[in-house]
Amino acid sequence: MKPTLEFIIQLASEAGDILQSFVGEDLSVKHKSRTDLVTRADHASEKYITSAIRKAFPDHAIIAEESGKWEGDEEYKWFIDPLDGTLNYAHGVPIYSVSIGYAYQSEMTMGVVYDPTRKELFCAERGKGATLNGIPIHVSQYKKLIDCMLVTGFPNDLWDTPDDNLNNFKSFSKEAQTVRRLGSAALDVVYVAAGRLDGFWDVEIEQWDVAAGGLIVREAGGVVTNMYGDRDFLDKPVSMIAANPVIHAKLLEGLETNRVKNGQV
Ligand code: IPD
Ligand code: CA
Ligand code: CA
Repeated sequence: MKPTLEFIIQLASEAGDILQSFVGEDLSVKHKSRTDLVTRADHASEKYITSAIRKAFPDHAIIAEESGKWEGDEEYKWFIDPLDGTLNYAHGVPIYSVSIGYAYQSEMTMGVVYDPTRKELFCAERGKGATLNGIPIHVSQYKKLIDCMLVTGFPNDLWDTPDDNLNNFKSFSKEAQTVRRLGSAALDVVYVAAGRLDGFWDVEIEQWDVAAGGLIVREAGGVVTNMYGDRDFLDKPVSMIAANPVIHAKLLEGLETNRVKNGQV
């Protein structure tokens, strides 16, 4: 049995309410690594989403950030980030989201990203377009990087990896109008879908960060690939470029140039 988009919207908005219910409370913050945190809100949101999916679709496979892989029929696969932007959330910065993606036969089919602070719900179903609170959204039309507000992120092990993305941040900061770092990859990507931001790239992310958002950008008229230009952006190791077709090509080219300069090819 397949889910409906309404079912996923319900999950994301209830999970968002759960996140808001912990704001101002003791979050029981724990460290997964030096800079990667988890709070009891992450766990409560994830428990709610995974239990509801298991109850409705007991045979579906699930990949969820905090509880990992739930065995099931891989034809039906869910990607759950119960709280994307945990660092922001733990510091009281209201830029975070819930991200739920659903793939059928390895093709992203439905995606919902919900920002509970602003009550903004971004969603898409394959072939049916993308919406923000029910209103259709589209990627921006800019064609020159100098007109573009780009956005990126950095890996949680930034302090320990040579592939830290800082070289790309530096080079695109000099070529674009500006580069933002908001701290929620799921929101970064759906802001591209809504034309608020003009392009996203990240070199080291996880499937649950961008599964839903990637579909939403495609349905908003954007191009989504991994950093090498491959369409299957959820193949591991996960990286992403998401933008309108012209800016996507420029980001792809710039990242390739930087890899050559860095001796990474
Ligand atoms: C993180 C955020 C951040 C991105 C990191 C992610 P989390 O997710 O999406 O923007 O740069 O790579 O890990 O840990 O807050 O769910
Ligand atoms: Ca995340
Ligand atoms: Ca998370």
